[in-house]
Formats: sequence, C-alpha cells, structure tokens
Amino acid sequence: MRLELFLVATAVICATGKPLSEAAPKTKLLLISFDGFRWDYDQDVETPNLDQLAVDGVKAKYITPPMLTMTSPSHFTTITGRWVEDHDVVHNMMYDAKTNLKLPHKLTMTKSAWWDNGVLPLWITAQNQGLKTASFHYPGGGVSYGGQAVHRALVEDVNHPDDNETEWRQNIDMVMSWFSEEDFDLVTLYYGEPDSVGHAKGPETPERRDIIRQIDRTIGYLREAINHHGLNDTLNVIITSDHGMTTIKKRPKVEEIVLNKYLNLLTLASFEILDYGGFGILTPRPGKEQEAFDALSNAPNLTVYRKHEIPESFHLAKSKRLPPLVVVADLGFNLNSRFIVYVNKGDHGFHNGEMDMKTIFRAFGPNFKKDFLAEPFDSIHIYPLMCKLLEIQPAPHNGSLAVTEDMLLPAVPRPTSEPTTGPTTGQATVLTTGPPNGGWRRCSASVALLLAALLSVFTVM
Ligand SMILES: *[C@@H]1O[C@H](CO)[C@@H](O)[C@H](O)[C@H]1NC(C)=O
Ligand SMILES: *[C@@H]1O[C@H](CO)[C@@H](O)[C@H](O)[C@H]1NC(C)=O
Ligand SMILES: *[C@@H]1O[C@H](CO)[C@@H](O)[C@H](O)[C@H]1NC(C)=O
Ligand SMILES: *[C@@H]1O[C@H](CO)[C@@H](O)[C@H](O)[C@H]1NC(C)=O
Ligand SMILES: [Zn+2]
Repeated sequence: MRLELFLVATAVICATGKPLSEAAPKTKLLLISFDGFRWDYDQDVETPNLDQLAVDGVKAKYITPPMLTMTSPSHFTTITGRWVEDHDVVHNMMYDAKTNLKLPHKLTMTKSAWWDNGVLPLWITAQNQGLKTASFHYPGGGVSYGGQAVHRALVEDVNHPDDNETEWRQNIDMVMSWFSEEDFDLVTLYYGEPDSVGHAKGPETPERRDIIRQIDRTIGYLREAINHHGLNDTLNVIITSDHGMTTIKKRPKVEEIVLNKYLNLLTLASFEILDYGGFGILTPRPGKEQEAFDALSNAPNLTVYRKHEIPESFHLAKSKRLPPLVVVADLGFNLNSRFIVYVNKGDHGFHNGEMDMKTIFRAFGPNFKKDFLAEPFDSIHIYPLMCKLLEIQPAPHNGSLAVTEDMLLPAVPRPTSEPTTGPTTGQATVLTTGPPNGGWRRCSASVALLLAALLSVFTVM
C-alpha cells in the first residue's frame, strides 16, 4: 500500500517537476548584463521602461564593480561572488607572461584554461544542486569548470554585431522559451552595448543616448515577453553591468601619456599589456625591477603598484597571474606604450572609486519589493542574492546577503517542506525534502528511492 502511494507520488513529481506540498511556486532567475552601462546613463535621456521598472521593482542608486573595472574580471566576480585575486580572471585578454602569449578578449570565451582556476561560478554550483542553467553570451559561460560545462551555452562569434535590436529581441524570445518550455532555472544573458558605443563614440554623445533608448525599448520588450510566456509570477530578473565609462582625455586638452618616454620598455620590461584603457600590467626584466618601478613612479597621471603593495581594498594582491607591476591611470588617461595608436573616445579600467566607473543594478519579479531604492553596494554582493533567489547553497564567496536582502519580500513559508529526521520517516515526507527547487534532483532521487523500495520488497520476498 505504501509502495503504491509512493509510486503515484513519484510519477506525479517526475511528470510535473514540482513538489507536492509547497505553497510557493518554484521561481526562476534571469541575470542580464548590458556591458559598460554607467550608473547615470538613464539620467540624460528618456527611459520610460527603466523608469517603470524602478516603480515595479528595485533600483540601486549605483553599484561599485570590483577593482579591475574590465569586462571579464568584473562579470566573473558577479557570477562567482569572489574577488578578482581569488578567481584570477585578471584581464579581458588571456595572457602568459612567460611565453608572451596574448589572446584577444572574444577568443578567451572558449578557453577553460583562462577561466577555470578552482572557483566555481553560479551555473555550476546551481547545476550541482539539481538546477538547469544556461548562458547566453555571458563571459565565462562558454567553458568548463573541473570538466563540467554549463548545460546550455551560446558563445558570441568573434564578429558578432553588438547593436542589432532585432537580434536583441530574438535573444529574449529564445531565453523566454528556455524558461517556459524547457524549464531552465537560471539563465544569464549578455549584451555588448552600451560598451561598444561608449568606446567608439564616447559616453557623452548622442550615439550613446540612442543606444540607451534602444536598451530601454528592449526592456519594454522583455516585460511583454515575460507576460506572454506566463512568467510574471515565477521569473525574477536582475539587470546589471560590469563597469562604467569615461571620456578619454586627448591632445591638445592634455599631454597624453606615452610610457616609453619614462622607461625604455624594450630594455626594462619582458612582458606588458598596455594601450588598453586605464589599467596596465608589466613584468620588469630580471634585475630591472627597481629601475622600472622608479621610472613609472615618476610618470605623471598614473599610479604604479608593486603587486604585493597593492592596497588591500583592491583585492588584487593575492593573484597568481598578475605580473609584478600594475599601473592604474588617472581617470580619463589611456596608458599608451610607445605611440598613440589608440582610437577609443571612451574607456574604463580606472579606479572603481571613480563615479564614472560605477554601474547599474535593477531587479524585479515575484520575490522583489516594489518601488524600492537601494543604497549603493559592491557588485560582489549580487552572488549571495542570486543563491538566495534560487534557494541553493552558495559556494564559498566574498559577498554578504545582509547587504542585499532588504530588497526581497518576506519569504512565503512552505508548509511541510522541512526534512523530518528519524528512522520512522514516512516516504511521502521524504519526497518533499531535499533542496527546494531541485525538480530534477527530486525526480532522480525519487526514482532512486523507488528502485531501493522495489529492491527491498524483492529482498523480503
Ligand atoms: C539583425 O538581425 C536580424 C535577425 O538576426 C537579421 O535578419 C538582420 O539582417 C540583422 N541586421 C543587420 C543590419 O545585421
Ligand atoms: C504581467 O506583468 C505585466 C507588467 O509587466 C502586466 O502588464 C501584465 O498584466 C501581467 N500579466 C498578468 C497575467 O498578470
Ligand atoms: C597630469 O600631470 C601633469 C604633470 O604632473 C599635471 O600638470 C596635470 O595637472 C595632470 N593632469 C590631470 C588631468 O590630472
Ligand atoms: C574571499 O572568500 C574566500 C573563500 O571563502 C576566502 O578564502 C578569502 O579569504 C576571502 N577574501 C577576503 C578578502 O575576505
Ligand atoms: Zn569595454
């Protein structure tokens, strides 16, 4: 009799993927990143959909990215909740200071060796707890961690256009069908704008304002799509970004930095990545450490750090990959190496304390309060918030849920979902225990239990 009940219960659970006795529906999470969306980009252009979002959900005044305000390092901090020195994705380019290997940003997106340094991103941690996850162009989503890949990962082509609005909408449609038809629990969706326009045209331009209008329309489209797919009550959405953008100072307004004027790069450095906005790295030749450091210390409009003397608040010093010297330019200066070949009108990579490097945080959905203005916080705290929303155990991380928890509505109690202990545990109770939201895991656990039960019946017989 008990076995029959159990069979029925297992069948129901495996058919619906839903627990039997939980009041609150299983919620899903969509994390969207618009690369290089400075915190105040919505303040000089009309953004009706973003404005409505603030009424219907949560808006932070701004958030602070980790030091190393660059795409890959910052996105990876968001998805791991770890400082850059721990996850060690210390540049957009993949490099090896010993072999002088340098791979451009987009080519790193399929290189596990660059991303997998022992820190697990949210996708993998969620998958290990029975959830189904996907990454749509999100940095770090296209590789494997300890041999484990994200269930579904789309990686951008090297020549992918960043600003095609039609495609932006198609991407949203696809992600919505992943949630509604394929029961994905977590999807991360990345857009390369407004970063591209910010670099090419500069942040204070009509082109940048146009792309913000386009993003705003896309958010309107997203909300319609959520409604169409019946996901209003089950999908939480976080919209954020990796860093801001500042106008690059050029001649004749300033004397642009040309580092070779202060140190002979050829004789003093064996490896360098410069000409890449506000952040530069450099390995001095053996015996030239002091000379290189002194020369850079005398260069104007920048700060040079020996790796072990990097301020603790940067959370970079423990990195295994950073070379001995790190250079941070003053806001708006590009670190040109030998000549000024640099064409960007806007850039980032500057100190994360600069207001121009701050970025956005918005959130809405069934678990978020409405019309809630959050104080500024560090992006590292998004990770524990996402774990809370997915109801999974976080991996070790450097964030704190206490910082972001205020945004959430009080939890709806779930009757009879507490695990019962002791040898007399009934099978029906066993079925509703285990990690909440673990539809898959619950199903396979039920099948395992069923097999075990059948086996014990046969053993008795
Ligand atoms: C934009 O994307 C759509 C859909 O993928 C495609 O049909 C169209 O050709 C693209 N437009 C441009 C200008 O690339
Ligand atoms: C879903 O939310 C939208 C607001 O984005 C609202 O217009 C719509 O009526 C809601 N749909 C349902 C079924 O509640
Ligand atoms: C850059 O450095 C020069 C030389 O020290 C200084 O005169 C100038 O004010 C600095 N520029 C900025 C914008 O800080
Ligand atoms: C960040 O978290 C990791 C893992 O818990 C820990 O080892 C490390 O010391 C933390 N870093 C800081 C600065 O607290
Ligand atoms: Zn950029």
